[in-house]
Amino acid sequence: MKLSLSIGKTGNLSGAGFGQLFWRLFGRLNPYRRDNDSPRHHPGMSVEDKRSETTERTPLHGSPDERAARALAEPGGPLIECRALTHTYHTRLGTRITAIADVTLAIDAGEFVCLLGPSGCGKTTLLNMVAGFLAPTAGELRLDGKAIHGPDPDRGVVFQDYSLFPWLTVESNIAYGLLMAGMSAERRKAEVGALLDLVGLPHIGAQYPFELSGGMKQRVAIARALATHPAVLLMDEPFAALDAMTRESLQRQLLDIWTRTRKTILFVTHNISEAIFLSSRIVVLSSRPGRIVEDIRLPEDSRPRKRTSPEFNRLYERLAQAIGVEGSE
Ligand SMILES: Nc1ncnc2c1ncn2[C@@H]1O[C@H](COP(=O)(O)OP(=O)(O)OP(=O)(O)O)[C@@H](O)[C@H]1O
Ligand SMILES: [Mg+2]
Repeated sequence: MKLSLSIGKTGNLSGAGFGQLFWRLFGRLNPYRRDNDSPRHHPGMSVEDKRSETTERTPLHGSPDERAARALAEPGGPLIECRALTHTYHTRLGTRITAIADVTLAIDAGEFVCLLGPSGCGKTTLLNMVAGFLAPTAGELRLDGKAIHGPDPDRGVVFQDYSLFPWLTVESNIAYGLLMAGMSAERRKAEVGALLDLVGLPHIGAQYPFELSGGMKQRVAIARALATHPAVLLMDEPFAALDAMTRESLQRQLLDIWTRTRKTILFVTHNISEAIFLSSRIVVLSSRPGRIVEDIRLPEDSRPRKRTSPEFNRLYERLAQAIGVEGSE
């Protein structure tokens, strides 16, 4: 499934207007292309990629869920692959800020990976590169073996702010990507119904975002991100604005969704407890420029992880030391 919207030259997408939001969520906002839409050299591409960039991108083979299942069944290459990934911002004042430096990371299909690190270490920058909103300055970045060339419905994104369209009902918000992809009204209704069930909000389709609590809005945002059946769910501090109780409740619900869908999730947080509770793997970044300083796999049989257990606290201490904070939350 592909969306056919396109706009021309793009920049960095840190702003927050609805226009930008629209393109971030659903458009082919593509920092890799020029105005004339001709293929542009990708700084991190191998010779093979440069050769293939003149041919049209072929959709990934099979549905994303099938692909994830296949990758799990037959261990081949990783689903997400970053090699020596670097991003340097050029600021308005002419200075350069290297946010992420030399990050090499391979994420397998079905993993729940938390990126943990202090504020400003480049977590969002890394996530935005995987989302395709930002181009790497150096290094390689691949999804399912193919270089990433911009946003695609294969990667669903959930932001920290409640990024729903306020003028659309919950149902229309969730169905927006499906509408753009040309899905029939009947199928859209069925898909939205299933997604609302999945996030535990079966009866709110006709409501507007302003009628929902913060936690409900984020669950709708998760449903919307899952609507196009992405291979990967990218989440940038999605629960940071919620109170502690709602946050823990949504963490449990997200784990439940992950268990049922086995989506590959890349989740940014600077909350250590959240990372330990959720992850199958925690990747710790140093302060800017972000480099990987720890890569810890957590045993699946330790779920649900009890926040008061000695193991939980030992890992908490280790992570707090790794990111250079004591009691970050
Ligand atoms: N558009 C930009 N132009 C210039 N510098 C930027 C831009 N966006 C981010 N930066 C800088 O890059 C660095 C990394 O920013 P980023 O937003 O990726 O960090 P982060 O780890 O997500 O932080 P936080 O936890 O506070 O969200 C910061 O020093 C930030 O100031
Ligand atoms: Mg951030």
